[in-house]
Amino acid sequence: MCGIVGYIGQEDTKEILLNGLEKLEYRGYDSAGIATLNNDGVQVTKVKGRIASLREAVDENVKATLGIGHTRWATHGVPSKENAHPHQSTSGRFTIVHNGVIENYVDVRDEYLNGIEFKSETDTEIIVQLIEVLNTELNDVASAFRKAVELLTGSYAIALIDRENEDTIYVAKNKSPLLVGIGDDFNVVASDSMAALHVTDQFLELMDKETVIVRRDGVEIQKLDGTSVEREPFMAELDTTDIEKGTYPHFMLKEIDEQPFVIRKIIQEYQNEKDEIKLDPEIREAMKACDRIYIIAAGTSYHAGLLGKQFIEKLANIPVEVHVASEFSYNMPLLSEKPLFVYISQSGETADSRSVLVQMKELGHPALTLTNVPGSTLSREADFTMHLHAGPEIAVASTKAYTAQMAVLAILAVDTARAKGIKLDFDPMQELGIVASAMEALTDQKEQLEELARNYLSTTRNCFFIGRGIDYYVGLEGSLKLKEISYIQAEGFAGGELKHGTIALIEDGTPVIALATQENVNYSIRGNVQEVEARGAKSMIISMKGLDKEGDAFVIPHVHDLMTPLVSVLPLQLISYYAALHRDCDVDKPRNLAKSVTVE
Ligand code: F6R
Repeated sequence: MCGIVGYIGQEDTKEILLNGLEKLEYRGYDSAGIATLNNDGVQVTKVKGRIASLREAVDENVKATLGIGHTRWATHGVPSKENAHPHQSTSGRFTIVHNGVIENYVDVRDEYLNGIEFKSETDTEIIVQLIEVLNTELNDVASAFRKAVELLTGSYAIALIDRENEDTIYVAKNKSPLLVGIGDDFNVVASDSMAALHVTDQFLELMDKETVIVRRDGVEIQKLDGTSVEREPFMAELDTTDIEKGTYPHFMLKEIDEQPFVIRKIIQEYQNEKDEIKLDPEIREAMKACDRIYIIAAGTSYHAGLLGKQFIEKLANIPVEVHVASEFSYNMPLLSEKPLFVYISQSGETADSRSVLVQMKELGHPALTLTNVPGSTLSREADFTMHLHAGPEIAVASTKAYTAQMAVLAILAVDTARAKGIKLDFDPMQELGIVASAMEALTDQKEQLEELARNYLSTTRNCFFIGRGIDYYVGLEGSLKLKEISYIQAEGFAGGELKHGTIALIEDGTPVIALATQENVNYSIRGNVQEVEARGAKSMIISMKGLDKEGDAFVIPHVHDLMTPLVSVLPLQLISYYAALHRDCDVDKPRNLAKSVTVE
């Protein structure tokens, strides 16, 4: 949600900021802006819309070696030029960019900012006005900045510049991600390392409620009481080519195609020379010691969690509950005596999941995070992390992270089973190898899937996905993929549940996509297809080799029945992709969405 960049150094900053914002655009893209500072003062350029429009609006003739930038996903105030960041204080001395939500902005405004005329509807403007008021009182910008941060509650990543100081960016964070990148004679600020990899690979991690004074020749991290904190930078392992589209028209298509490689990478990372599972022994102990697992996640990661429950319960014999993160705190179940919390998050930054993690850590419950971003907040704050090794996922719609989550969950389940002495007739690495080959075969069948998308989905208003057992969970993911990028109203249902209500929605030509990859329900799901067809539905069956019947629309290669979700989701991802293309939708950046949801 919203992306921030900042640069202070020797080069002209405009291109560095714009380049960084392009890399952060996945975090939000309804408006954008930059502010640069030179001898002539602060120059702010803002637009409603994408970074491409910002690029056109920026004045090429203004040169500056200090600047901040922002790409927005609206929380307070509609997407508009006025509400776009950066925001300035009344005198124009201070300019700020912010990611997050200030919870007490009304209280702060009423207590400290009486009489001030606001130019926007954002909570962000409160921060910059507050800093100006506090600076008038304290006559020291660093102290005013710290005091402001102390007064604010909620989530924020902030970068502030002062018109009267061409050598500093003031930075702070709480709950929202922010990194400081370290260079020779320059430093940068970024919501994630991808935005600054074109200038440095050395980054300083920041902790909540720390402030940072970023200058050309150094960086000083301070606690709220003004004392300094020493911290060594870490090296970001990303390769810049990982975050380019290359010859692909969209990141989503590239990421769908990368899935076989991701699965092979996972096999390699989680296996030692003796072909045993390579896992932190402390994770193994935690899994063995718990009496129940609580999986916490959102969206696609939640769908992976539903399948993780199947793996862990069926293979390791431990009861598992899967909870939507945003619901958990308000609707907390009775916890078992020895719970283990497993947080699944591609980004590692989802605020809803993090909020559960913080609460459960306070209660002393151990936390394992499965994430694609090892240095992320959920990774740092958990006791243990399992890395997904999917490589950066840029398209807003998650694809390769989902299959990576399931692969890692399957490995975890088998490792736990083995640690508990359960004999299994299931070698996860071998099965994942078969999955990788099956995925590869499917990525070569794009034409057929494009044709299905064109036939079934290019003009429809709605679409239903049905399945039974684990196919039902894959259907949920298929429907989420389709709705988020094509805006077709798509819903997933358990096949048997249809006749208890949903079947009333079936009309002539309503598309129904049925999954049939499980032997034990193959007959019954096909029965459900007959039921909807009898009411006019235009159905298609996606089945698995060995269980397929004449007339099935698409058949995936045969894999172990527990592993089918990793493969059957591919045709659904590709059908969604092509449906979105046929409907002229922005595949990588669907409306209203952001990749990393850092507000609750
Ligand atoms: C859907 C999608 C979202 C995310 C959800 C959780 O394609 O990407 O539903 O899965 O916002 O995000 P993470 O996994 O980063 O916690």
